[in-house]
Amino acid sequence: MEQIVTYLSAEQIGERVKALGAQIKKEYAERRPVIVVVLKGSFVFAADLIRAIDLPALRVDFLAVRSYGEGTESSGVVQIVNDLSRPIEDEDVLLVEDIVDTGLTIAYLLDLLHTRKPKSLKVCALLHKPARSRIAVQIDYLGFTIEDRFVVGYGLDFGEKHRNLPYLGILQHKE
Ligand code: IMP
Ligand code: MG
Repeated sequence: MEQIVTYLSAEQIGERVKALGAQIKKEYAERRPVIVVVLKGSFVFAADLIRAIDLPALRVDFLAVRSYGEGTESSGVVQIVNDLSRPIEDEDVLLVEDIVDTGLTIAYLLDLLHTRKPKSLKVCALLHKPARSRIAVQIDYLGFTIEDRFVVGYGLDFGEKHRNLPYLGILQHKE
């Protein structure tokens, strides 16, 4: 049997996301940032985050990636499943990720997006698991640093399941 134990409650996440939104609003005031949502895992976080960023000129675009390899391990080989709908040259881009684990996915995406010559390129991640880091990446806006546990919910999945949980939980397998 599968059981899910709460790791971060919807309230804890909500408070942190509001604070991140306020910080981003302040730092991007007078600018027209393009929020790039890395699908699929980040869609729930991004939906809350953009509503916490009180900037009238904010725009949103999506990038869908797949990291080769199933299960809970990232291979570092990233496939772009769906690219951005517009060029980002001279734009202030804020990449929104659900979780930075090994860091390989975000490092790949930063390299790729830099070649498109944005005016600025920053990273906002809800979660960071430093214990598994394989490449150093700068996270400019971070929700929570977490232990080396596999978490699900709030957009994050295990084999495509549990994205719809309103909180972040840890999967436990029981007899
Ligand atoms: P990285 O390339 O190892 O940093 O992995 C990034 C991607 O792996 C994330 O965008 C997630 O889709 C997935 N991932 C890593 N850790 C977890 C986790 O604890 N729960 C769910 N997905 C995870
Ligand atoms: Mg995933």
